[in-house]
Amino acid sequence: MSEKGTDREKWDTPPGHFGSKTDEWSTPPELLRSLEKAVGGFDLDPCSGAERKSIAEQTYTAEDDGLKQAWFGTVWCNPPYSDMESWMQKAVNESNREDVDLVLVLAPARTSTQWFHKYATKADAVAFLEGRLTFGDPREQVRNAPFPSIIAVFGEYPEDLGDTLDRRGMVYRSDQRDQRTQQTVIA
Ligand SMILES: C[S@@+](CC[C@H](N)C(=O)[O-])C[C@H]1O[C@@H](n2cnc3c(N)ncnc32)[C@H](O)[C@@H]1O
Repeated sequence: MSEKGTDREKWDTPPGHFGSKTDEWSTPPELLRSLEKAVGGFDLDPCSGAERKSIAEQTYTAEDDGLKQAWFGTVWCNPPYSDMESWMQKAVNESNREDVDLVLVLAPARTSTQWFHKYATKADAVAFLEGRLTFGDPREQVRNAPFPSIIAVFGEYPEDLGDTLDRRGMVYRSDQRDQRTQQTVIA
């Protein structure tokens, strides 16, 4: 099955009246608030539209095409899940540009996909969130994700963010990888 085929697996389909396949999985406000606090707010949301209230000072919708824009500052990216490959690649590329301080990507924890192995593994930290998210705003409509989620962090991140992510699940930190390997060898 192709990468895009994998992304479009049936478990994308939300239950009930949300219809069939959709990319409109808006970030749970409570999760967003804790992350905003930890990073001091977001400058850019390059994949915007589904949220009730703007997440960042600058937003790009499908019409603007966030994949074609230059990113900057501290970026919140909860991309259309139907094209994870393009968005993860963009996140990696943009995070290497000087204008970009930090990129946080909320993504389904599809650890068997090519995009995960090609791009999520380049993150400075990956948090594997415990439980499953309830997407949407409780003041409107919510829906429980039929999949687990990760937050991939690209760039040097504040300690507060590390602590916030630690409270949400298991956090893999790339700077600790060699340390663990060494310990294993010595043992
Ligand atoms: C998973 S939702 C996230 C919405 C919001 N950023 C949030 O975190 O709650 C992804 C959003 O990206 C929008 N989108 C789709 N293609 C896009 C594109 N090429 N550029 C920018 N936004 C896009 C979708 O319409 C959708 O609202």
